[in-house]
Amino acid sequence: MSRRGLVAGNWKMNGLIEAADALVSGILAGLAQRGGKVQCDVLVCPPFTAIQSVGKRIAGSAIKLGGQNMSEHTPGAHTGEITGQMLTNIGCSFVILGHSERRSMYGEDSQLVSRKMASAYRDGLTPIVCVGETLQERESGKTLDVIRGQVSAIFPNLPADTAKREQLVLAYEPVWAIGTGKTASPEQAQEVHAFIRGMLVEQLGGGVANKVRILYGGSVKPDNAKVIFSKPDVDGGLIGGAALKPEDFLGIIDGF
Ligand code: 13P
Repeated sequence: MSRRGLVAGNWKMNGLIEAADALVSGILAGLAQRGGKVQCDVLVCPPFTAIQSVGKRIAGSAIKLGGQNMSEHTPGAHTGEITGQMLTNIGCSFVILGHSERRSMYGEDSQLVSRKMASAYRDGLTPIVCVGETLQERESGKTLDVIRGQVSAIFPNLPADTAKREQLVLAYEPVWAIGTGKTASPEQAQEVHAFIRGMLVEQLGGGVANKVRILYGGSVKPDNAKVIFSKPDVDGGLIGGAALKPEDFLGIIDGF
């Protein structure tokens, strides 16, 4: 595979500073046991309040740091919001955008997510844009239509620069698989990933499309990671629950 794998931990709204420090220390210790060598990139996305402290712990290690959300706006009167620059300022290089929890609980639609993606690039971050269908949408045969709608919204706001386009990360997270213990089968994941790759080829050309990493998220665990990651268009995982336990997160990294 020409793409390097990526395992990203989305800690969601979990972890006071002490717990976040303990979690990342456990991950660091596990990586050290592996001689610091892993076959994929590793990213952690702590809650905002713990990013700086976690950043200090991982300094000089292979672990990268990301935020879970950001504002589309430049600095100004936006109470309660965070700019991408504020994230880079505390050591982040990635940001998760359009997670299904933000779409369903905070009214983020694909146009807003797309504008946030443009802002993330502007601020020097690599965006991880999440897409995925609900159970109802899957059961009514609308999965690929939903994915098409969510993915097509990003193209108008993608920078023209090839290197930036190649940097893009997408995450396919079927809503029905998030936190439910129900994982998409490797075949179901591959079907959607291949569909997304096809859209990227059409819009951006094969050169760029084959560099973009597409992660799978939704109940990834150490015992199912390897088979999911073995699919040709699955380039890693966006991990929720299992990212909160060092041994589970490390077990998933070992899937590569
Ligand atoms: P779980 O791994 O807990 O299913 O969560 C997936 C997710 O939402 C990652 O962003």
